[in-house]
Amino acid sequence: MSARPEASAPRQKVSLTSLAAQKRRAQPIVMVTAYDYPSAQIAEAAGVDIVLVGDSGAMTVLGYDSTVPITVDEMLVLTSAVRRGLKTPLLVADLPFGSYEVSDEQAVATAQRFVKTTGCDAVKIERGGTTVDRARAIVAAGIPVMGHVGLTPQTAVAIGGYRSQGRTAEDALELSRSAVALQEAGCFALVFEAIPSEVTKAVMPKLDVPVIGIGAGPGTDGQVLVFHDLLGIWDGQPARFVKRYADLRTEMVAGVAAYADDVRTGAYPGPEHGYSADADEMARLRALLDDGPAQNEAPRLP
Ligand code: KIV
Repeated sequence: MSARPEASAPRQKVSLTSLAAQKRRAQPIVMVTAYDYPSAQIAEAAGVDIVLVGDSGAMTVLGYDSTVPITVDEMLVLTSAVRRGLKTPLLVADLPFGSYEVSDEQAVATAQRFVKTTGCDAVKIERGGTTVDRARAIVAAGIPVMGHVGLTPQTAVAIGGYRSQGRTAEDALELSRSAVALQEAGCFALVFEAIPSEVTKAVMPKLDVPVIGIGAGPGTDGQVLVFHDLLGIWDGQPARFVKRYADLRTEMVAGVAAYADDVRTGAYPGPEHGYSADADEMARLRALLDDGPAQNEAPRLP
């Protein structure tokens, strides 16, 4: 039997309460990223629980070479487009690098701008440390916050690059403390990214909020993958934790190449792709064209 929700059965809108209940029932939570209207509609149709407008969009759709350069304004455009394509899943938006770290005031102002402008349900911020205070401030302002520990791409340089985290007992303890501190600050859920599966398993009993993993093993309450990774839309080398469920880039290139071929050979457009005009109107047009002023000749004045 398929684990997918029945297409015909209307789904309840996903909420913080329903996600907590999913965790209690040990029902895996499915999260995926989306960055525009069509990817949001696909996530909706596929019946996922959470859609994240990740700052990974910096790389997947805007072509930057890391998540660092994406701006608040760019993220607002992406998140608003996703909102328009989404009804049921919880919509979470990443606050981009530099938009929340300076002070609680900056963090609350940016989170409020996201909620007011895009209609997102929650925001996500990265790291422990000072981010714990930012999370507490945003939650106190009435906006749900998702935390993110382990590999935190916004600060990848400072943590030694795009590599798994918590590999020593001390680092894993630090990671665990950050996760618990974020939970105590009021985060409704956490992302664990690139963490050894055994570390995840050891830390999970300390957490009551849902934990969504990406490269953190099977021990979390749910999983998240980047839309372009899981569908094979880009041609880079995916991270170890990515499972590809389709090879859409190959199909897309083949489709555009076939179109280019058809245009060059004249196979497209065919008669079925054009519009036809009434025969009488065409006869009148030809007469008008014949009677009209010659090319480059000024119209005759009365
Ligand atoms: O930006 C993103 O896509 C993310 C996920 C990998 C969790 O933060």
